[in-house]
Amino acid sequence: MERNGGQENPWDERAQAYRDSAPHASGPDLDLLVAWAGPGEGRTALDVGSGGGHLARRLREAGFAVTTVDPSAGMWPDVICRAEELPFSAASFDVVASRLASHHFADAELALSEMARVTRELVLLEDLLFVDERVEEAETLRDASHVRAYSLDRWHELFAAAGLEVEAAEVIDREVSFSAWLARCDCEGERAEKARKLVSHRLDGDSYTSTVFLLEGKKAR
Ligand SMILES: C[S@@+](CC[C@H](N)C(=O)[O-])C[C@H]1O[C@@H](n2cnc3c(N)ncnc32)[C@H](O)[C@@H]1O
Repeated sequence: MERNGGQENPWDERAQAYRDSAPHASGPDLDLLVAWAGPGEGRTALDVGSGGGHLARRLREAGFAVTTVDPSAGMWPDVICRAEELPFSAASFDVVASRLASHHFADAELALSEMARVTRELVLLEDLLFVDERVEEAETLRDASHVRAYSLDRWHELFAAAGLEVEAAEVIDREVSFSAWLARCDCEGERAEKARKLVSHRLDGDSYTSTVFLLEGKKAR
Protein backbone atom coordinates (compact mmCIF):
# COMPACT_ATOMS: atom_id res chain seq x y z
CA MET A 1 0.00 0.00 0.00
CA GLU A 2 1.27 3.48 -0.83
CA ARG A 3 1.66 5.91 2.04
CA ASN A 4 0.71 9.55 2.50
CA GLY A 5 2.98 11.27 5.00
CA GLY A 6 3.55 7.93 6.71
CA GLN A 7 -0.18 7.16 6.97
CA GLU A 8 -1.93 4.39 5.05
CA ASN A 9 -4.79 5.61 2.89
CA PRO A 10 -7.17 2.85 1.69
CA TRP A 11 -8.10 4.97 -1.35
CA ASP A 12 -4.63 4.64 -2.88
CA GLU A 13 -5.20 0.95 -3.61
CA ARG A 14 -8.71 1.56 -4.95
CA ALA A 15 -7.77 4.44 -7.21
CA GLN A 16 -7.70 2.53 -10.50
CA ALA A 17 -11.04 0.85 -9.73
CA TYR A 18 -12.61 4.30 -9.25
CA ARG A 19 -10.95 5.69 -12.40
CA ASP A 20 -12.48 2.72 -14.30
CA SER A 21 -15.88 2.79 -12.55
CA ALA A 22 -18.77 3.14 -15.03
CA PRO A 23 -21.28 4.63 -12.52
CA HIS A 24 -18.73 7.28 -11.59
CA ALA A 25 -17.79 8.07 -15.20
CA SER A 26 -21.26 9.15 -16.36
CA GLY A 27 -24.90 9.54 -15.40
CA PRO A 28 -27.68 12.08 -15.10
CA ASP A 29 -26.25 13.24 -11.75
CA LEU A 30 -22.96 14.19 -13.39
CA ASP A 31 -24.82 15.91 -16.26
CA LEU A 32 -26.85 17.95 -13.76
CA LEU A 33 -23.80 19.11 -11.78
CA VAL A 34 -22.15 20.29 -15.01
CA ALA A 35 -25.34 22.07 -16.09
CA TRP A 36 -25.60 23.82 -12.69
CA ALA A 37 -21.94 24.88 -12.91
CA GLY A 38 -22.82 26.96 -16.00
CA PRO A 39 -20.48 28.16 -18.75
CA GLY A 40 -16.84 27.30 -18.08
CA GLU A 41 -14.91 29.62 -20.40
CA GLY A 42 -12.84 32.04 -18.32
CA ARG A 43 -14.04 30.51 -15.04
CA THR A 44 -12.35 28.37 -12.39
CA ALA A 45 -13.59 25.33 -10.47
CA LEU A 46 -12.37 23.30 -7.50
CA ASP A 47 -13.28 19.59 -7.31
CA VAL A 48 -13.14 18.42 -3.67
CA GLY A 49 -12.64 14.68 -3.07
CA SER A 50 -11.98 14.31 -6.78
CA GLY A 51 -11.36 10.54 -6.66
CA GLY A 52 -11.08 9.05 -10.15
CA GLY A 53 -11.47 12.54 -11.63
CA HIS A 54 -14.77 12.14 -13.47
CA LEU A 55 -16.38 15.39 -12.33
CA ALA A 56 -13.13 17.27 -12.96
CA ARG A 57 -12.94 15.84 -16.49
CA ARG A 58 -16.49 16.91 -17.28
CA LEU A 59 -15.93 20.42 -15.89
CA ARG A 60 -12.76 20.74 -17.99
CA GLU A 61 -14.72 19.64 -21.08
CA ALA A 62 -17.19 22.44 -20.24
CA GLY A 63 -14.28 24.91 -20.37
CA PHE A 64 -13.47 25.38 -16.67
CA ALA A 65 -9.89 25.65 -15.40
CA VAL A 66 -10.16 22.92 -12.75
CA THR A 67 -8.09 22.22 -9.64
CA THR A 68 -8.57 18.84 -7.95
CA VAL A 69 -8.03 18.05 -4.27
CA ASP A 70 -8.11 14.66 -2.54
CA PRO A 71 -6.25 13.19 0.47
CA SER A 72 -5.29 10.10 -1.56
CA ALA A 73 -2.06 10.52 -3.56
CA GLY A 74 -3.10 7.47 -5.61
CA MET A 75 -6.04 9.47 -7.02
CA TRP A 76 -3.51 11.86 -8.61
CA PRO A 77 -5.10 15.11 -7.37
CA ASP A 78 -3.46 18.47 -8.08
CA VAL A 79 -3.30 19.08 -4.31
CA ILE A 80 -3.26 16.40 -1.60
CA CYS A 81 -5.48 17.63 1.23
CA ARG A 82 -8.69 17.01 3.13
CA ALA A 83 -11.90 18.94 2.50
CA GLU A 84 -11.80 20.08 6.12
CA GLU A 85 -8.62 22.11 5.54
CA LEU A 86 -8.53 23.52 2.03
CA PRO A 87 -5.20 25.31 1.44
CA PHE A 88 -6.67 28.20 -0.58
CA SER A 89 -7.50 31.82 0.16
CA ALA A 90 -11.10 32.96 0.50
CA ALA A 91 -13.01 33.32 -2.79
CA SER A 92 -10.34 31.57 -4.89
CA PHE A 93 -12.70 29.75 -7.30
CA ASP A 94 -15.91 30.61 -9.17
CA VAL A 95 -17.38 27.15 -8.50
CA VAL A 96 -16.54 24.60 -5.80
CA ALA A 97 -18.01 21.14 -6.37
CA SER A 98 -17.88 17.80 -4.61
CA ARG A 99 -19.41 14.55 -5.83
CA LEU A 100 -19.91 11.32 -3.85
CA ALA A 101 -17.20 12.15 -1.33
CA SER A 102 -18.73 13.95 1.65
CA HIS A 103 -19.96 10.75 3.37
CA HIS A 104 -16.23 10.13 3.94
CA PHE A 105 -15.55 13.51 5.53
CA ALA A 106 -14.75 13.26 9.25
CA ASP A 107 -16.42 16.68 9.75
CA ALA A 108 -18.96 17.43 7.01
CA GLU A 109 -19.96 20.76 8.58
CA LEU A 110 -16.37 22.02 8.64
CA ALA A 111 -15.77 20.74 5.10
CA LEU A 112 -18.84 22.58 3.78
CA SER A 113 -17.79 25.79 5.52
CA GLU A 114 -14.37 25.44 3.87
CA MET A 115 -16.00 24.99 0.44
CA ALA A 116 -18.18 28.05 1.08
CA ARG A 117 -15.11 30.05 2.13
CA VAL A 118 -13.08 29.30 -1.02
CA THR A 119 -15.89 29.81 -3.54
CA ARG A 120 -16.78 33.19 -5.06
CA GLU A 121 -20.16 32.08 -6.34
CA LEU A 122 -21.39 28.46 -6.18
CA VAL A 123 -21.02 25.31 -4.10
CA LEU A 124 -22.35 22.18 -5.83
CA LEU A 125 -22.68 19.08 -3.69
CA GLU A 126 -23.73 15.55 -4.59
CA ASP A 127 -23.66 12.72 -2.10
CA LEU A 128 -25.41 9.64 -0.81
CA LEU A 129 -28.75 10.45 0.77
CA PHE A 130 -29.42 8.92 4.18
CA VAL A 131 -31.83 6.02 3.64
CA ASP A 132 -31.89 4.08 6.91
CA GLU A 133 -29.54 2.53 9.48
CA ARG A 134 -29.42 -0.80 7.56
CA VAL A 135 -27.92 0.96 4.56
CA GLU A 136 -25.49 2.87 6.80
CA GLU A 137 -24.32 -0.43 8.37
CA ALA A 138 -23.90 -2.05 4.96
CA GLU A 139 -21.92 0.97 3.69
CA THR A 140 -19.57 0.76 6.69
CA LEU A 141 -19.15 -3.03 6.34
CA ARG A 142 -18.26 -2.59 2.69
CA ASP A 143 -15.95 0.35 3.34
CA ALA A 144 -14.70 1.22 6.82
CA SER A 145 -13.98 4.78 5.60
CA HIS A 146 -17.72 5.48 5.26
CA VAL A 147 -18.52 8.03 7.98
CA ARG A 148 -22.19 9.02 7.55
CA ALA A 149 -24.84 9.91 4.99
CA TYR A 150 -27.20 12.72 6.04
CA SER A 151 -30.82 13.61 5.28
CA LEU A 152 -31.71 16.43 2.90
CA ASP A 153 -33.07 18.44 5.86
CA ARG A 154 -29.69 18.17 7.60
CA TRP A 155 -27.87 19.29 4.45
CA HIS A 156 -30.22 22.29 4.12
CA GLU A 157 -29.28 23.24 7.72
CA LEU A 158 -25.58 22.85 6.93
CA PHE A 159 -25.88 24.98 3.77
CA ALA A 160 -27.63 27.74 5.72
CA ALA A 161 -24.98 27.59 8.48
CA ALA A 162 -22.24 27.91 5.81
CA GLY A 163 -23.89 31.02 4.32
CA LEU A 164 -25.14 29.24 1.19
CA GLU A 165 -28.61 29.81 -0.27
CA VAL A 166 -30.03 26.65 -1.84
CA GLU A 167 -30.98 27.48 -5.43
CA ALA A 168 -31.85 23.95 -6.57
CA ALA A 169 -32.17 20.45 -5.13
CA GLU A 170 -32.60 17.05 -6.77
CA VAL A 171 -32.84 13.45 -5.58
CA ILE A 172 -31.87 10.71 -8.03
CA ASP A 173 -32.04 6.92 -7.74
CA ARG A 174 -28.96 5.37 -9.36
CA GLU A 175 -29.17 1.68 -10.31
CA VAL A 176 -25.69 0.20 -9.91
CA SER A 177 -24.22 -3.30 -10.04
CA PHE A 178 -24.10 -4.58 -6.45
CA SER A 179 -21.25 -7.01 -7.19
CA ALA A 180 -19.16 -4.24 -8.78
CA TRP A 181 -20.01 -1.95 -5.83
CA LEU A 182 -18.61 -4.56 -3.41
CA ALA A 183 -15.60 -5.32 -5.60
CA ARG A 184 -14.44 -1.68 -5.79
CA CYS A 185 -13.78 -1.87 -2.03
CA ASP A 186 -12.57 -5.50 -1.97
CA CYS A 187 -15.59 -6.51 0.12
CA GLU A 188 -16.07 -10.26 -0.08
CA GLY A 189 -16.93 -13.37 1.96
CA GLU A 190 -18.94 -12.97 5.15
CA ARG A 191 -18.79 -9.17 5.08
CA ALA A 192 -20.27 -9.12 1.58
CA GLU A 193 -23.00 -11.57 2.54
CA LYS A 194 -23.93 -9.51 5.60
CA ALA A 195 -24.00 -6.32 3.51
CA ARG A 196 -26.21 -8.06 0.92
CA LYS A 197 -28.73 -9.04 3.62
CA LEU A 198 -28.74 -5.56 5.10
CA VAL A 199 -29.62 -3.90 1.76
CA SER A 200 -31.96 -6.65 0.50
CA HIS A 201 -34.78 -4.06 0.41
CA ARG A 202 -32.71 -2.03 -2.12
CA LEU A 203 -31.69 -5.00 -4.30
CA ASP A 204 -33.28 -6.52 -7.39
CA GLY A 205 -30.94 -9.30 -8.48
CA ASP A 206 -27.58 -7.57 -8.89
CA SER A 207 -29.18 -4.15 -9.34
CA TYR A 208 -28.67 -1.97 -6.27
CA THR A 209 -30.62 1.27 -5.84
CA SER A 210 -28.31 3.95 -4.49
CA THR A 211 -30.07 7.25 -3.81
CA VAL A 212 -28.15 10.49 -4.13
CA PHE A 213 -29.05 14.14 -3.57
CA LEU A 214 -27.67 17.15 -5.39
CA LEU A 215 -27.70 20.69 -4.00
CA GLU A 216 -26.79 23.96 -5.70
CA GLY A 217 -25.78 26.56 -3.15
CA LYS A 218 -25.18 30.22 -3.95
CA LYS A 219 -22.88 32.22 -1.71
CA ALA A 220 -24.87 34.84 0.15
CA ARG A 221 -23.53 38.34 -0.57
C1 LIG B 1 -16.07 7.88 -4.42
S1 LIG B 1 -14.61 8.80 -4.49
C2 LIG B 1 -15.09 10.33 -5.27
C3 LIG B 1 -15.60 10.22 -6.68
C4 LIG B 1 -15.34 11.40 -7.57
N1 LIG B 1 -15.69 12.66 -6.96
C5 LIG B 1 -16.04 11.24 -8.90
O1 LIG B 1 -16.83 12.11 -9.32
O2 LIG B 1 -15.80 10.24 -9.58
C6 LIG B 1 -14.45 9.41 -2.81
C7 LIG B 1 -13.18 10.23 -2.61
O3 LIG B 1 -13.28 10.94 -1.37
C8 LIG B 1 -11.98 11.11 -0.90
N2 LIG B 1 -11.98 11.55 0.51
C9 LIG B 1 -12.04 10.78 1.61
N3 LIG B 1 -11.98 11.56 2.72
C10 LIG B 1 -11.88 12.84 2.29
C11 LIG B 1 -11.75 14.10 2.94
N4 LIG B 1 -11.76 14.22 4.29
N5 LIG B 1 -11.65 15.21 2.18
C12 LIG B 1 -11.66 15.13 0.82
N6 LIG B 1 -11.78 13.96 0.15
C13 LIG B 1 -11.89 12.82 0.88
C14 LIG B 1 -11.33 9.76 -1.15
O4 LIG B 1 -9.92 9.82 -1.12
C15 LIG B 1 -11.90 9.40 -2.51
O5 LIG B 1 -11.03 9.75 -3.55
